[in-house]
Amino acid sequence: MKNKIALVTGASRGIGRATAKLLAAEGAAVAVNYFQSESAARAVVDEITQAGGRALAVRADARDEAQVRAMVADVEQSLGPVDLLVANASIGFPVKPFTQFAWGEFEAKLTGELKSIFFSCQAVLPGMIERKSGSIIAISSTLSRHSSPGFIAHSTAKSGLDAFVRSLAEEVGPFGVRVNVVAPGLTLTDATAWLPEEQKAMIGEMAPLKRVALPEDIAGVVLAIASDHSRFVTGCYIPVSGGLLML
Ligand SMILES: NC(=O)c1ccc[n+]([C@@H]2O[C@H](COP(=O)([O-])OP(=O)(O)OC[C@H]3O[C@@H](n4cnc5c(N)ncnc54)[C@H](OP(=O)(O)O)[C@@H]3O)[C@@H](O)[C@H]2O)c1
Repeated sequence: MKNKIALVTGASRGIGRATAKLLAAEGAAVAVNYFQSESAARAVVDEITQAGGRALAVRADARDEAQVRAMVADVEQSLGPVDLLVANASIGFPVKPFTQFAWGEFEAKLTGELKSIFFSCQAVLPGMIERKSGSIIAISSTLSRHSSPGFIAHSTAKSGLDAFVRSLAEEVGPFGVRVNVVAPGLTLTDATAWLPEEQKAMIGEMAPLKRVALPEDIAGVVLAIASDHSRFVTGCYIPVSGGLLML
């Protein structure tokens, strides 16, 4: 990742944080996007710089076009043109039966998820296309390919994200830009801290590798796909679930 500039959305915590740290350890200069957790984002930047890396904390709501454009302009001015976008920002959603959903809360998840990928891709792609080089990795979920009770909004939104990635990969491949999906299974982060321990243990037991994921497990696959060694990989959906989802 030496001499590469990476932008990771939602990098103040969880999977984004682990990804930003790993990319930086491998030599990338990393923009650590955050929304509300400024001190956590600054702590990620401090950890990276203390280890000898380059990083910058940048605030933006990934669902807001103007904020995303301003963030990318800031990153390009401070670090350089973005070579790698990891679209990871976590868009919250209620977990409940379909019959209890109001359209507004369902819609907020769908539009939030799609706005974040749409705006971040629109902000970085013109430069990538011009340079005929770039990589975009969208963080989806294995729940885009299988269901779980209560997760209808998340599954539907992440399926839209997957379809968006396939279409975009088709469109920008001729310009040397790769677009892929990394789809985590259950991963131990703040987003899943509410799940009962027995349920997490049960899901871990169901996986051939006999555990649930840590954020670093997902970060490792993002690094592998981002690497130039994966230069002929685009439009792919890579589940990272210890074998629980096999395609
Ligand atoms: N954890 C899992 O089991 C799991 C499984 C499958 C897929 N995923 C996906 O993995 C990604 C990361 O999830 P996670 O578990 O690491 O979440 P997390 O630990 O809860 O962290 C969420 C991150 O997203 C950021 N964020 C939230 N809303 C944002 C917004 N509007 N704009 C910019 N950043 C925003 C947060 O920033 P602030 O704190 O600064 O607001 C934080 O850095 C998500 O796309 C999620 O859907 C997670």
